[in-house]
Amino acid sequence: MRDNNYVGWMAALGRGDQHPGGAAASELLSTWIDPWLPGSLVELGAGIGANAARLRTRGWTVTAVEPNPRLRRQGASRGLRVLDCSAESLAGIVRPGSVDVVVAESVLALTDLPRALASVATVLRPGGALAFCDLVWTEHADPARVREVHDDSLARFGIPVATRERLTWADWNHVLSLAGFDVRSDAPAPTDGVRAPGLSHRLRSPLASLRIHRSHRGQLNVPGDWLEARCALAVRL
Ligand SMILES: C[S@@+](CC[C@H](N)C(=O)[O-])C[C@H]1O[C@@H](n2cnc3c(N)ncnc32)[C@H](O)[C@@H]1O
Repeated sequence: MRDNNYVGWMAALGRGDQHPGGAAASELLSTWIDPWLPGSLVELGAGIGANAARLRTRGWTVTAVEPNPRLRRQGASRGLRVLDCSAESLAGIVRPGSVDVVVAESVLALTDLPRALASVATVLRPGGALAFCDLVWTEHADPARVREVHDDSLARFGIPVATRERLTWADWNHVLSLAGFDVRSDAPAPTDGVRAPGLSHRLRSPLASLRIHRSHRGQLNVPGDWLEARCALAVRL
């Protein structure tokens, strides 16, 4: 049965680069991790596997991780090795200290962040890198309403727009530091020429989101300055 949610429609439409900044953000992250080449790379929440396949072409030995079975099949059809697990359970499946780089595009904000980062830190070798992009709350976001927006977006799309707690970029740095990471590079996600992106643009929502919006008959009411799209490179100490 087709899931009427964001991930279900991604699978149905075969859409990749469903993260802030799209392919341009993936290219930025790829450039940041180039100094670790050649090596082993795990992409968390790899979706249809489009970016994982590009990373393989760049010279990485890639393992994709994807909890959704339909998306896993799409990754496998690209000849990728795809593991059925979550970011949080990765450490129980991949050998500790065996990975050079982990990539996560619009995935970490969907996880239990401390557990996911602990899992990533376990599988990475010391000196390995985590490259990611996500939507992050800003100081403008009303802490009292953030949970409501999280829960509402989760109910509408099947995935939330951002973390359930109002974690700003400063908070992400703190959580990363507690998990043993040091942020070495960070930048706003490329806007792909979108000057003042609405929420659907920032989510990189395709036709799928339109369908979801219509089927759920409503709009998420999130002021434009409550969320920012971040790309970052953190090294496991
Ligand atoms: C917004 S989509 C992004 C997909 C892909 N990274 C891209 O940019 O096109 C989020 C992806 O994360 C996966 N996902 C959700 N929760 C996850 C978790 N706890 N661990 C790993 N992946 C997860 C979803 O199945 C989906 O493929």
